[in-house]
Amino acid sequence: YPVESIRNFSIIAHVDHGKSTLADRLLEITGTIAKTGRNKQVLDKLQVERERGITVKAQSASLFYNHEGVNYLLNLIDTPGHVDFSYEVSRSLSACQGVILVVDANEGIQAQTVANFYLAFEAQLAIIPVINKIDLKNADPERVEKQIEKLFDIPIDECVRISAKQGTNVEKVLQKVIEKIPPPQCHTADPLKALVFDSTFDHYRGVIANIALFGGEIQKGYKIVSAHTKKRYEVNEVGILTPNEQPIHKLYAGQVGYLIAGMKEVTEAQIGDTLFLYEQPVEPLPGFKTAKPMVFAGMYPVDQTEYNNLRSALERLTLNDSSVTVHRDSSLALGAGWRLGFLGLLHMEVFNQRLEQEYNMSVILTAPTVPYKAILSSAKLIKEYGKAEITIINPAQFPDRLSVSEYLEPTVLGTIVTPQEYIGKIIALCQDRRAVQKDMLYIDERRVMLKYLFPLNEIVVDFYDALKALSSGYASFDYEDAGYQAADLIKMDILLNGNPVEELATIIHNDKAHVTGKFLCERLKDAIPRQLFEIAIQAAIGKKIIARETLKAYRKNVVAKCYGGDITRRMKLLKRQAEGKKLMRKIGNVEVPRDAFIRVLKRQ
Ligand code: GTP
Repeated sequence: YPVESIRNFSIIAHVDHGKSTLADRLLEITGTIAKTGRNKQVLDKLQVERERGITVKAQSASLFYNHEGVNYLLNLIDTPGHVDFSYEVSRSLSACQGVILVVDANEGIQAQTVANFYLAFEAQLAIIPVINKIDLKNADPERVEKQIEKLFDIPIDECVRISAKQGTNVEKVLQKVIEKIPPPQCHTADPLKALVFDSTFDHYRGVIANIALFGGEIQKGYKIVSAHTKKRYEVNEVGILTPNEQPIHKLYAGQVGYLIAGMKEVTEAQIGDTLFLYEQPVEPLPGFKTAKPMVFAGMYPVDQTEYNNLRSALERLTLNDSSVTVHRDSSLALGAGWRLGFLGLLHMEVFNQRLEQEYNMSVILTAPTVPYKAILSSAKLIKEYGKAEITIINPAQFPDRLSVSEYLEPTVLGTIVTPQEYIGKIIALCQDRRAVQKDMLYIDERRVMLKYLFPLNEIVVDFYDALKALSSGYASFDYEDAGYQAADLIKMDILLNGNPVEELATIIHNDKAHVTGKFLCERLKDAIPRQLFEIAIQAAIGKKIIARETLKAYRKNVVAKCYGGDITRRMKLLKRQAEGKKLMRKIGNVEVPRDAFIRVLKRQ
């Protein structure tokens, strides 16, 4: 395939607008997969992806298509479909010259449509707007075309109306891909220059790196070097993705495919790295920023005897997902465990679900926190850390106010698209989350786009759910990293009869201290069984108590409060109490069952 007949493109869309369905149709039309009617989301390989209907890891495929007597090689580079993975979207786009932007004909432009459009626009890619689901009864493609024109400045007549489900006009999309998207600008005669845009790990074959060739050619036996690690490798196999790996003799400039070269860890195939020939060094392609974890949580085995099994499951899972960071951690109540960093909340959930489904692990995941920063003013601490600006991912490391000139918190720029009737409630919600409005724009008579600068910790736990609840599911949300801002942060301790419980210390904004303190005290009161004496449960900032609950002394008969005489229920309760005793942690003279920590720390 000469470079002129190659097209490299991605499909981008808001969740559920039909990206995977369109990809399946494209694969069928081009004969890449058989038309069985059972090809549901062939590119989504992971079980969690199928269950949740979201794409987590990008998969790519090469399609062969004859148009007006010319054979074309169309490389479809799949992108993940969720806000947490926008980092992966941008890196997939770097291997493309154009995108298909899919918008649901009924729902219209949503938050992620806007975010994805700008990623493609900034990368200067050709954009083909496609209005999907025109078969739906409520489809209003005209309205959506007007939105696209207003917001993205794309003429109405450039939109293609399709039904990916029924296959209507899908062929037209392929023709647009050929006409509108330029071929890659590169030459096989140049020295080899291969961009690594994704990598996976295979137990038998090691690292499989997905590459886009920006120059030269590559085949088995070539000796290559990584610009990032400077390590040398000999190529064992190259091939294309159809969408499974299919070995071929050679990959040429402009093509997209995979490479296996004896790399043992995914960190050796850094996303954004450039590979070149040992004898022909080249200027590396501009890389990407490494993925930054934005949400941290503690992970512990439910049962400490499972520690080693969990460790090996974590090791194997992170081999395939280099964006998760892992540090060992331990807690007196929960035992030995880890502190994990994720790109976002969904990423954390997906990871947890994969541990459960693919490795049969059941774990305790503590409440998520974000990475705060502190600018130190104490010369002693600066010396200790070797720098003035430190990142804090654990409340135990929170430096005292007296030794700090400024605390900083991470922020994100959030985009919300909503029917106008919910604006009032949404604005109130955003204000409650300490967000600052940056923009408000009507995208048509009924829909509004809002932009807010949010402190990240205000959205990590339940913002998305709250937004969905108050808009009956109609508002959509997406966000991008917006750097750090100064914040009035404090560390809040939880005390039991005056003794601090280190597992429950949190870093929060001063304004939120009272509400959060009260909430934690109430929850803890429900979770600790009564004891022989009264227990004061307090939230404190330094020496100042800001919330208090009192747990009254023991009532002797634990089963008395159990209604009726169901014997099995009574036995269960007694058994649970006995088990609980084994897992007590003593704080001062107060005995706290391990399960109380779990109930307080666990996300709800
Ligand atoms: P993510 O992978 O989460 O990004 O979703 P997606 O954009 O890939 O959407 P997907 O292809 O999974 O489609 C979402 C839902 O819309 C599925 O239930 C599809 O069957 C349905 N759908 C897709 N295209 C059409 C269409 O043209 N018409 C109708 N009626 N339904 C469609």
